[in-house]
Amino acid sequence: MPSTDFERQIEQVAHLMQNSDSILFITGAGISAESGLPTYRGISGLYNDQHTEDGVRIEEALSGSMMQTRPEITWKYMAQMEAAFRGKSYNRAHEVIALLESKFERVCVLTQNVDGFHHKAGSTNVIDIHGNMNDLLCLSCRYETSVPDYSGVEIPPICTNCGGQMRPDVVLFEEMLSTRKTTHLNQEFQKGFDMVFSVGTTSVFPYIAHPVVAAYHANIPTIEINPDRTEVSEFVHIKIAEKAVATLNAIWMYLNRSTP
Ligand code: OAD
Repeated sequence: MPSTDFERQIEQVAHLMQNSDSILFITGAGISAESGLPTYRGISGLYNDQHTEDGVRIEEALSGSMMQTRPEITWKYMAQMEAAFRGKSYNRAHEVIALLESKFERVCVLTQNVDGFHHKAGSTNVIDIHGNMNDLLCLSCRYETSVPDYSGVEIPPICTNCGGQMRPDVVLFEEMLSTRKTTHLNQEFQKGFDMVFSVGTTSVFPYIAHPVVAAYHANIPTIEINPDRTEVSEFVHIKIAEKAVATLNAIWMYLNRSTP
C-alpha cells in the first residue's frame, strides 16, 4: 500500500503511463539544475541579477540585435554561460526519459535547454527548440560546426572556412524559432500524445505552455514535475511538487517493479 502523497502520485502517474503509447516531455532549466547548471529564474537564476557589468540587461546582451551590432557582448555572456555548464553532464532524470523509449511506442522531448543533455543521455526524438550552444554557425558562409565546449575557442569565434563571424546556433531574444524545428513539432502534435509531462520549466513561452494547456482541455493526462508553481500548474491533472531526479527515478522504479 502506498504510504505517502508522493508514492500515491507516482503510482497514479505510472498507471496512466501503462495505458499510454505516446508521451511528450516538455523540459526546461530545472531538469538540468541537479546536474549543477544554473536556472534562468528563481534561486541562483541567471536573470536575477538584471543588469550586466556592461550596463545592459542580460536579455539585451543575449539578443539578436546585440549579436548583429556588438557580437562581442553577446559572446561574452554566452561564454560565461558556457563556462557555468562546462564539465557538467546529464543526470538520472534525462537518463530515465531516454530509457522510457524502450517502453513506449513514441517518446518525444521538447526542450528549451541548450545544454544538449537529452541527446547525450540517449533520447532520439528531441526537439531542442532553442538550439544547442555547442553548435556554431558562420554568419557569412553558413558553415556549421560543433564544439565539445568553448575551451579552445577564440571568443568571438572566427569561421575556419571563410574567416567570417560565427554565432552560437541558439535562439536569442527577439529571434524567431527555427522553422525546421517548429515543423517537426507540428508533425509530432498531429500524431498526438496520450500523456504530456512538463518538467522543470516556468513555461513563460506560449509554445511551451500551450501544449500542456491544450492537452489538459482535451482531457489528455497532464503532469507537472516542479517544486514551484508555474504558468501551467493550474492546467495539470497531477502536480508533483518534487525535484525531477527523484520523481522520474521513482516512476522508472515503479514501472519496473516485479509484480508478485
Ligand atoms: P526557468 O529558470 O525559468 O525555470 C526553471 C524551473 O525549474 C523553475 O520553475 C524551478 O522551480 C524549476 N526547478 C528548479 N530545480 C528543479 C528540479 N530539481 N526539478 C524540477 N524542477 C526544478 O527555466 P526555463 O523555464 O527553462 O530561453 O526558461 C525558459 C527559457 O527562458 C530558457 O530556455 C531561456 C530563458 O529565456 C532563451 O534563452 C531563449
